[in-house]
Amino acid sequence: MNFENFHIIKHPLIEHKLTYIREKHTSKKEFKELVDEVALLMAYEITKDFSLQEIEISTPICKTKSKVVSGKKVVLVPILRAGLGMVDGILKLIPSARVGHIGLYRDEKTLKPVSYYFKIPSNCEDREFILVDPMLATGGSAVAAADMLKKAGAKNIKFMCLIAAPEGVEKFCKAHPDVKVYAAGLDEKLNEHGYIVPGLGDAGDRLFGTK
Ligand code: PRP
Ligand code: URA
Repeated sequence: MNFENFHIIKHPLIEHKLTYIREKHTSKKEFKELVDEVALLMAYEITKDFSLQEIEISTPICKTKSKVVSGKKVVLVPILRAGLGMVDGILKLIPSARVGHIGLYRDEKTLKPVSYYFKIPSNCEDREFILVDPMLATGGSAVAAADMLKKAGAKNIKFMCLIAAPEGVEKFCKAHPDVKVYAAGLDEKLNEHGYIVPGLGDAGDRLFGTK
């Protein structure tokens, strides 16, 4: 897809794990573990632009200068429910990140997002938001979530998903050209029910065992 703000994160481990996430015989336990692991690996890649600052520390041997991530106030925002499955993995890498929540579900008939919850930390302007949801299908939920973050004052947003459909990428990238979108896989299309093909099925149901 030719959108400047859309990026596929390519890594053999991510591709390997994504295969088993897609596989329908993967157990609920393994599915959650794999989603966590892929989220962690992707977070490692998308934080490469974090800037560093030098601080003075004392090793057991002497004083020295060494680098730490400079004052980034990261807010991780899962789109409920399925986005929750990506939170623990990313928090392993960025344990100090605050966590906001956006409650949205997709109406089964219209496929339009229905909003039911919104809570993020205050002082949004100087924070770095990482919005997460495993699936970018029609794009309705992700676009609505980014709209809500911007309305609350967020200036700096990245969106991370596991699998994207071309329809969702186009909708999101056109609506939010300033938001970088990262996916582990770009699939072929949506089916008549709005599910990604080949996809992984219903991410929320597979994570929480609710089918
Ligand atoms: C899924 C998924 C996304 C949305 C993607 O959530 O986790 O939020 O669908 O579809 P879209 O791009 O067409 O909006 P769902 O509505 O099934 O809710 P859930 O996470 O509570 O299961
Ligand atoms: N939501 C899902 O969980 N899976 C899809 O394929 C599309 C939307």
